[in-house]
Amino acid sequence: MNATPDLRFDGRVAIVTGAGRGLGRAHALLLAERGARVVVNDLGGSKEGEGSDAGPANDVVSEIVAAGGMAVADTNNVGSEEGCHALVQTAIREFGRIDIVVNNAGISRWATFPEADAENLELTLDVHLRGTWHTTRAAWPYMEQQGYGRIITTTSTGMLGLSDNLAYATAKGALIGFTRSLAVAAAPKGIRVNCVAPNSVTRPSLSADKPNIVTANQMDAARVQAMQTDLVSPMVAYLAHESCEVNGEILVAGAKRFARWFMGFTPGWLDDGYGVPTIEDVVTHWDEINDESGYYVPTGTYDWGARFMAHLA
Ligand code: NAI
Repeated sequence: MNATPDLRFDGRVAIVTGAGRGLGRAHALLLAERGARVVVNDLGGSKEGEGSDAGPANDVVSEIVAAGGMAVADTNNVGSEEGCHALVQTAIREFGRIDIVVNNAGISRWATFPEADAENLELTLDVHLRGTWHTTRAAWPYMEQQGYGRIITTTSTGMLGLSDNLAYATAKGALIGFTRSLAVAAAPKGIRVNCVAPNSVTRPSLSADKPNIVTANQMDAARVQAMQTDLVSPMVAYLAHESCEVNGEILVAGAKRFARWFMGFTPGWLDDGYGVPTIEDVVTHWDEINDESGYYVPTGTYDWGARFMAHLA
């Protein structure tokens, strides 16, 4: 039995970037189904970020409208600051406000060192990191003025160690720092900022050119079916809801599992002698430094500082 009443978004306006396909499409459909007016943003390029096509964004809008929802298409490129500002203006012009930003748009350019060059890095940072930064920054004054907002960023467990998609993993790691720090600034303003790490079969997993991981082409149909995009969206929609007071957290969602991803610290080794610790001391105490028992999860930078330097208090 589900005791939670239906969570609705009536009166709310949401921007979902990269909503013409994959996960963004599923997020947009769910938010619209629950009453939100949705700006369906999508540039419509290739998975590597080349070209453009208004088709995907328009198709999702048609789908939402056919189901009785309200949505408008936006084909701005979130890889440029102007594109992000224009996208936010679409929401204001069409719907008069902005309550939710789901920063989801993404590209994938598989390469490691030394092949992963400056162009790869810049393009990847443009869409994932700068796109999130500029879209959120453009929406911020509206949220600040109304004393309310819900911002979702999209990271990836790829940042745990995806050597053959180095720029992607780098950008996704940066988004965690962005999310946690903006959440601190957002807290007193009625704004909440959280990060989702999805796990789903979408276009980027439908390619045969990735050397080290199993692609959707190689998965059996049942597994592909079990990793559909709409199995991620309930978490995104919850983080976008007014009842959600969670702030600065990373949530993992996919294949019907929902989990929290946190950053923990070992208590470590404290040198309580009088001298300056030596290199050899570090080696001698390596096991203690790495011992995960008694680990802690700081709520923020200052909390970490208070714990790490508790002996100086
Ligand atoms: P997808 O390729 O199916 O969808 C991404 C959408 O973003 C596309 O429709 C594309 O046209 C759009 N887009 C790309 N660049 C854009 C730009 N500059 N401006 C506007 N739209 C743009 O990929 P998927 O899997 O749905 O990815 C969505 C997000 O989830 C991405 O940020 C991705 O990195 C992230 N993610 C996905 C995972 C998965 O398991 N599918 C795992 C971890 C993260």
